[in-house]
Amino acid sequence: MVNTASPAWAALIAHHQKLGKKHLRDFFADDSGRVASLSLSFEDILYDFSKQRLTRETLDLLIKLAEASSVAGYIQRMFDGERINVTEDRSVLHVALRRSSAPFPGARMDVMPEVLATRARMAQLAELLRAGHGLGNPGTVIRDVVNIGIGGSDLGPKMVNQALRSLAHPALNVHYVSNLDGAQLAPLLQTLDPRSTLFVLVSKTFTTQETLLNAETARNWLKANLGEDVNLGDHFVAVSSRPERAAAFGVSPDRVFPIWDWVGGRYSLWSAVGLSLMIAIGPHAFDELLHGAERMDEHFRTAPFAQNLPVIMGLIGLWNTNFLGATTHTVLPYNESLKYLPSFLQQLEMESNGKSVSIAGGPVGSETCPIVWGELGNNGQHAFFQLLHQGGRLVPCDFIASVRSDYPLPGHQEALLSNCFAQSSALAFGKTEDEVRESMEKERVAPEQIASLVPHRVFAGNQPSSTLLLKSLSPATLGALVALYEHKVFVQGAIWGINSFDQWGVELGKAVASRILPAFADPSLASAFDPSTQALLAFCREQS
Ligand code: F6P
Repeated sequence: MVNTASPAWAALIAHHQKLGKKHLRDFFADDSGRVASLSLSFEDILYDFSKQRLTRETLDLLIKLAEASSVAGYIQRMFDGERINVTEDRSVLHVALRRSSAPFPGARMDVMPEVLATRARMAQLAELLRAGHGLGNPGTVIRDVVNIGIGGSDLGPKMVNQALRSLAHPALNVHYVSNLDGAQLAPLLQTLDPRSTLFVLVSKTFTTQETLLNAETARNWLKANLGEDVNLGDHFVAVSSRPERAAAFGVSPDRVFPIWDWVGGRYSLWSAVGLSLMIAIGPHAFDELLHGAERMDEHFRTAPFAQNLPVIMGLIGLWNTNFLGATTHTVLPYNESLKYLPSFLQQLEMESNGKSVSIAGGPVGSETCPIVWGELGNNGQHAFFQLLHQGGRLVPCDFIASVRSDYPLPGHQEALLSNCFAQSSALAFGKTEDEVRESMEKERVAPEQIASLVPHRVFAGNQPSSTLLLKSLSPATLGALVALYEHKVFVQGAIWGINSFDQWGVELGKAVASRILPAFADPSLASAFDPSTQALLAFCREQS
């Protein structure tokens, strides 16, 4: 539980009152060294948070809050392999998945032998497929790999696959299928040749309805096209912590890759859950991704809080949520390759910290995770940015861009970056009434028109944002970026006193869905449900 009565919290409240409604224009006017003191860099990542509504003093007070909340000890406990996921009685060791050396977390419990052995098996399979071989008879070739998984078994690998698509194998098409809606799988199957298709079934639990139904449809499609006696082992591999369930489905036991209970689904792209990704980009690029994340892990573990990117990023989010009152946070990549990053971060942040009960079981006592959303920034400009600029709501933003493009076209990258920088600047500084009037006068607009239009053309500004500027979207830099967000979430969870590693909130809907499903076949069951559900079921019956 957050101790909102603690001296550290009280000092932040007092500090917030002192700052009042101070505008970013004034923050910048008051401190010429603001950008230097409110930005950090780590390897090829520049993190500029000078356009946040805070000062160096704010950061010092936030750091005191982190110290008072034992964040350092909590970090150490994670790296030591303690069972900090208390509601599931599990360690939280996704950081092990990025490492290359044993023992880790310690000699008493060393997970590295299985991590490294699994990574080697993945690389072997990826190399085989990338060299143009199949899993079956000599001469078979795999051309299409279909990853079937959902949530953490989909979003991470798909996001990174898209981000690093410039490195993807030219003769292997990797697809991601997650949705129960047949509109995702059916059209894809129409484009595939069953003889050269491999399905990668990814489910930590191997009980997830979406994944199992899509897998079953894939199996039926193979049988329908290649005959009932098709060797399923040639077309399926699986990733699961329940290998016996994958084997029961028909996957050869030697083609099941393990994951472990100490890897949370949304933290699992670094494990065998990233198998389809590794097949696409190759083991070497996958290793670079891991190394980038591992270096961020070391930075997170060892850097003093004032220089520690994940700690500072977490504290800034906390300042916006708990002291400025933001209820939402938007992620705006200015890089087409990062188009799935907002959905990945939605799961990472909201499934981890979208909780109001503390580790001890009581109310948290403060707001927790904001509503995270986002979209490619350049597209968003012509859609929802209107609200960010003039909607009057506080919406802190993360702008993310890379200096170099993987797809350079003359003039494009500079134009893209100037839009990125322009938006954060316009959101921060706005345009005053005087400035609007002055520019309209210069355009020789008639005075009565000026009078009527000025209120519509004023930009209040003061919308806080940070910019993460990457040198390029290399695998290592992307790995570091993703690990940065993972640890940011960790820091916030530690201060809010919640368990960021369980997700009980997803269970109720699953249970209710499994009770509703039989009512489609047997209408007499509908009466057990609430009146709204009954009416929806009745409409389906009438219309089908
Ligand atoms: O329903 C939520 C969830 O459990 C996520 O936490 C997880 O990433 C996803 O479903 C998929 O779970 P699994 O990998 O077990 O199929």
